[in-house]
Amino acid sequence: MKKQIAAANWKMNLTLQQAEKLLDDVLANLPQLQPQQQVVFAVPFPYLQMAQQKIAGKQQVFIAAQNCYTKKSGAFTGEVSVEMLQSLNIGFVVLGHSERREYFGEDNQFLAEKLNIALQYNITPIFCCGEPLNIREAGTQNEFVAKQLEESLFHLSTEQLQKIVIAYEPIWAIGTGKTATSVQAQEMQAHLRSVLSKKFGDAANNTSILYGGSVKGSNAKELFSQPDVDGGLVGGASLNADEFVTIIKSLK
Ligand code: PGA
Repeated sequence: MKKQIAAANWKMNLTLQQAEKLLDDVLANLPQLQPQQQVVFAVPFPYLQMAQQKIAGKQQVFIAAQNCYTKKSGAFTGEVSVEMLQSLNIGFVVLGHSERREYFGEDNQFLAEKLNIALQYNITPIFCCGEPLNIREAGTQNEFVAKQLEESLFHLSTEQLQKIVIAYEPIWAIGTGKTATSVQAQEMQAHLRSVLSKKFGDAANNTSILYGGSVKGSNAKELFSQPDVDGGLVGGASLNADEFVTIIKSLK
């Protein structure tokens, strides 16, 4: 069954005390989730264990890391391995966010390695893709994003694809308040599903494809109502409990 997912991406925000309060406020107001619905909180590394403890016993609610390294362990000062995440029972990891690509030089090949190790440790990658503004203006966004999928995902087996969530996040819509229209999101996400189905067949129909980029309480329902938009990866609006709860309530 294709999951409908509301994923909060807190990025590098909140003190521990603020993070605890935000999580408490969202969890206290969580609606009854339908069987196909999931809620994910991608929190900073130091808060993973706290967050994992707070969601204990909550069905269909998961904690994600915002990144991981390509190696199991070793002399890589400052990095965090999937083995560590697994030891905390973390279910998801965000990979390939545009901020990682832009500020930390992560390319499609490096991300393929991260995907491999996350899958090896049974941690679901939320794989982000999306085009910058100049590519959108040139009208070559379909090719650009397809290439991101081809170079990072096409070596996987069909079975592995089914363990991945994709997030389409046009860079010009991230943190800018400029949301893609539901038509733009649907067009691109249908395109991505067709790219996946050429390689992986029917499995593409079971892959959740989220939209990210200035999702808020006021536009979530319209975006999520599109047939190929299976929820959202939410930055700014996920830092406000009321907003994020409204977004969760907008899931199909
Ligand atoms: P935004 O961020 O909702 O603040 O635009 C989305 C993201 O970067 O995941």
